[in-house]
Amino acid sequence: MHKHDLVYLTEDASHDAAIEHINEEAFGPGRHTRAAARIREQGPHDLALSFICADDGETIASVRMTPVAAGEVTGHLLGPLAVRPSHKSRGIGRELVRIAVEAARRKGSEAVILVGDPPYYSPLGFEKVAYNALTFPGPVDPARVLVVPLADDVHARLKGNIGWRP
Ligand SMILES: CC(C)(COP(=O)(O)OP(=O)(O)OC[C@H]1O[C@@H](n2cnc3c(N)ncnc32)[C@H](O)[C@@H]1OP(=O)(O)O)[C@@H](O)C(=O)NCCC(=O)NCCS
Repeated sequence: MHKHDLVYLTEDASHDAAIEHINEEAFGPGRHTRAAARIREQGPHDLALSFICADDGETIASVRMTPVAAGEVTGHLLGPLAVRPSHKSRGIGRELVRIAVEAARRKGSEAVILVGDPPYYSPLGFEKVAYNALTFPGPVDPARVLVVPLADDVHARLKGNIGWRP
């Protein structure tokens, strides 16, 4: 496989089955109980800010973005992010995050928030949210709550509940 076989596309309904499979493979059946998943159950993700990577027509990676209100910040929750095991460590995850954050910035989002591993996301521009500043609809490890600020004073305004917004 050559890198030029890969294409990055905006998600649409035709990708649903493949994305479900990718997330099942990456996270397993427990994935629906995670706090971030509970936010995603509150309403639909934003297709215009969600992306897939296809290799020769086959969907092999996905990132989704869900509109959220987080304290006083109007932003997006990034996730799930998953890459099929056959395609890991080729920069696909990193590129999907970069594309999603850039799309959110262009759309006027104030922040991209996620629950994830700081060593992976810090080089991609994510910063730690103040400990327990955000209340999720379920338990989260506060050390894993990260944000790319896209507006002024985001850290100061990230205080309170986080949940889906229309
Ligand atoms: C995490 C994941 C999305 C990364 O996708 P990817 O396309 O393989 O990532 P990239 O190619 O952009 O980056 C790969 C590098 O990140 C590193 N990395 C992967 N997961 C990491 C983690 N949790 N913490 C720190 N580094 C990590 C890899 O070791 C690799 O390093 P290398 O390039 O020196 O080999 C993918 O491994 C995956 O789907 N994992 C299962 C689901 C998951 O954990 N999603 C993230 C939820 S927060």
